[in-house]
Amino acid sequence: MSSVQDRIERLREKIERHNYLYYVLDNPEISDAEYDVLMRELLHLESQHPELITPDSPTQRVGAPPLKEFGTIAHRIPMLSLENAMNESEIRAFDERVKRGLDRQDEVTYVAESKLDGLAVELIYEEGIFVSGSTRGDGYMGEDITQNLRTIRSIPLKLMQEKLPIPSLLEVRGEVFMEKAGFKTLNEQRLKDEEPPFANPRNAAAGSLRQLDSSITAKRPLKICCYGLGRVEGVAFSSHWESLMQLKKWGLPVNPHVLLCNSIEETIDYYKTWQEKRDELPYDIDGVVIKVNDFPKREQLGIRTRSPRWAIAGKFKAKQATTVLEDIEASVGRTGAITPVAHLKPVNVGGAVVSRATLHNQDEIDRKDIRIGDTVLIQRAGDVIPEVIKVILNKRPPETKPFILPGECPVCGDRVIRPKDEVVIRCQNIACPAQVKGRIEHFASKRAMNIDGLGTKLIAQMVDTELIHSFADLYYLSKKDILSLERMAEKSARNIINSIGTSRRTTLSRFIYGLGIRNVGEHLAQVLAQELRTLDGLMSATYDQLHSIDEIGPIVADSVINFFASHENRRVIQQCRDGGVKFELPEVIEREPSTLFVDKIFVFTGTLEKFARYEAEGIVERFGGHATKSVSKKTDYVVAGPGAGSKLRKAQELGITTLTEEEFLEMAGEQ
Ligand code: IVH
Repeated sequence: MSSVQDRIERLREKIERHNYLYYVLDNPEISDAEYDVLMRELLHLESQHPELITPDSPTQRVGAPPLKEFGTIAHRIPMLSLENAMNESEIRAFDERVKRGLDRQDEVTYVAESKLDGLAVELIYEEGIFVSGSTRGDGYMGEDITQNLRTIRSIPLKLMQEKLPIPSLLEVRGEVFMEKAGFKTLNEQRLKDEEPPFANPRNAAAGSLRQLDSSITAKRPLKICCYGLGRVEGVAFSSHWESLMQLKKWGLPVNPHVLLCNSIEETIDYYKTWQEKRDELPYDIDGVVIKVNDFPKREQLGIRTRSPRWAIAGKFKAKQATTVLEDIEASVGRTGAITPVAHLKPVNVGGAVVSRATLHNQDEIDRKDIRIGDTVLIQRAGDVIPEVIKVILNKRPPETKPFILPGECPVCGDRVIRPKDEVVIRCQNIACPAQVKGRIEHFASKRAMNIDGLGTKLIAQMVDTELIHSFADLYYLSKKDILSLERMAEKSARNIINSIGTSRRTTLSRFIYGLGIRNVGEHLAQVLAQELRTLDGLMSATYDQLHSIDEIGPIVADSVINFFASHENRRVIQQCRDGGVKFELPEVIEREPSTLFVDKIFVFTGTLEKFARYEAEGIVERFGGHATKSVSKKTDYVVAGPGAGSKLRKAQELGITTLTEEEFLEMAGEQ
């Protein structure tokens, strides 16, 4: 073996061992930085020797090129589902059936496990190497999701060697799931990116695993717990417990709460304990699974069409309850979305007292016909906000009326709109107190107005002390105002005033982006600035004018129109301009000022195509020159666009230098 190959293999083993310590045992031995060093070395060696890259290399966990569709994989042994027991007595009835089936009355050994709420998968290892994996599908055929499974760090790409020999074939089954914390972070990110959040961790896990682009799966916090076998060759087990212990030794994750029980009573204790403690777990479980431990006994019991006779799912009580809906509040979120929230008579739902539930939006209220005074069925699932499932109609009091969300924002009173193709209604007012902090933060952010030093905390302080009510107010602040804030030092106040000052000179596209018009991100802000040239052009653009721009579709056009239809928004924008915000050309703004302009007098005439007149005049003034309206002997330069008439003639008569727009820009770039 060459020394490079040798090094590559040693690195792979090391990295996989640290993956195992980190992702399976939750007990890392090295820092993230040390791990990165190993990974970088491996990536480097593999890039130098691509012929040595193998599918089981840890570098292959980042995702592969997207697929057009999933292939299918047949399960050599069907993947069955489980029969349900809804309470203790149904679990006892299962035990009796088992004993009858085995023709014996003495105790049977069971294994009790958590029933994780995710997606069942099968992993196939040949000679200890992970070769393929699939979903359960219809139990006989599943989808080939090998690429996606490879990205789950707790799935070993190679089995760890222990005392038992590595099987020539190992089909192992388990549940892919997402922990509640990972789910929460993922959804927060999706909301920030304006993507619809997942309803619950199960949907998030399923959606992430069934991505045709495995590089997306790689970014999702998926985990796996193995709970059973398919076909195994080269190694034999006589019981389920024995197999679980061996799976662990091979480095496969097994749920830590599995329990070997010597009687059905012990399994019932397990069921009751976890029903009580389910909320303490970092992931959702919807029940427990009770399985006969002994493999020969399983054989004897056999299977039904879709489920084995040797196992049962003990389902937990649904986290549902009925209560009275006392009021509906229209709550305004940070982005202006108005969500109806039900105020409920407090009720215990699966161990937690609930007094609020989301009603999602007007369509959902209409569909379920939810009215104030109704008795409603509510449900709590995992960490998700409780929701109203349905109305118990026969308990509806007389004289209720359908509920309709208000036409004005309950916080600021500005009108609300329902954007095209959306179910939520929104308050459009950028100065709405419910949204103001988030909006100012966005306005001040790096890629918008880039106001250095103005962070979340400071903005909150300024808004809470009523120093500012909208981002426009920033341009009227004095150092003294800022110093009046608690724990504010002279130097910081000076820095903030300076950064607000610097932000006055900006580009139109940064300003448009900073306005936070719904659906207008950084790129579209640039498109709008380029196409419409001026802020006035944008503010007066018609729907058709906007729609005719490449890249601007009906939804964006609609958002822009709605945004500028608000008088409040127009007022805030005017305040920014009055406060000194000026737009300059992106080509010029980043440069050092040209010295050629100092004390020079400019006149602009004709139609300017490259920039708006006030932008050009802004450049002149910023560079120390003056812009005037009429041509005289004192004029140094006349910048003429197409259609220039008398002013250009006069300049020529007086022998004044005339410039085209390009020449002017060039001059602005010269030092
Ligand atoms: S055993 C024949 N064990 O529940 C045995 N299943 O309806 C089949 N599940 O599709 C599965 N945790 O997705 C088993 N510890 C566990 C489980 C478990 C979750 C899921 C699995 C299966 C469904 C059964």
